[in-house]
Amino acid sequence: MSTFDDVQSPADEERRKLLARATAAGGLALAGASLPFVASLAPSERARAQGAPIEVDTAMLKPGELKTVEWRGKPVWILARTPAMLSRLESVRSHLTDPDSTVASQQPEYARNPARAINSELFVTISLCTHLGCVPTYAPEPGSIEGDWPGGFYCPCHGSKFDLAGRVYKGSPAPTNLVIPPYQLRGSLLVIGYDATDAPA
Ligand code: FES
Repeated sequence: MSTFDDVQSPADEERRKLLARATAAGGLALAGASLPFVASLAPSERARAQGAPIEVDTAMLKPGELKTVEWRGKPVWILARTPAMLSRLESVRSHLTDPDSTVASQQPEYARNPARAINSELFVTISLCTHLGCVPTYAPEPGSIEGDWPGGFYCPCHGSKFDLAGRVYKGSPAPTNLVIPPYQLRGSLLVIGYDATDAPA
């Protein structure tokens, strides 16, 4: 039976190298294409494209649903965590590299708690692997990746694994937990780009 920390086969390694090269090439092409696009926008639109806060109404998210938005050119996940998902955050602690989120650069202070969130039911994170920047796969169901997979995020590029709070598992090539962006919650309205401690704009 495969285990959670299995070493990948040579075929898997080759597939990952191809994927990494394709991702790098795609990223360069996208970066080149985005510059004329941003330059052609009106000033307010340009500010938004280059990093102004964005607002997302989370009221319609169903339990377990993951939504992807873009902020400062990066994908950001918004996950409506279920009670079962939250209970698993505690049970996986001993398998994590940094269960208490001690690396200050990876989250604002108000998200340095076991759920890594302002409201534990709503998880917000930049969805780029902290190894080389691939976008991991959302795999919330236990057993869906490997026999003892507890549910979380799996990066297919080089096999990094994260729990449902974006905390990296021991043995992953990714060195740190996923990055939590600054954000505010105003009821069900999520504002990404403003710190929770900032006065509302
Ligand atoms: S980019 Fe290497 S494991 Fe995710």
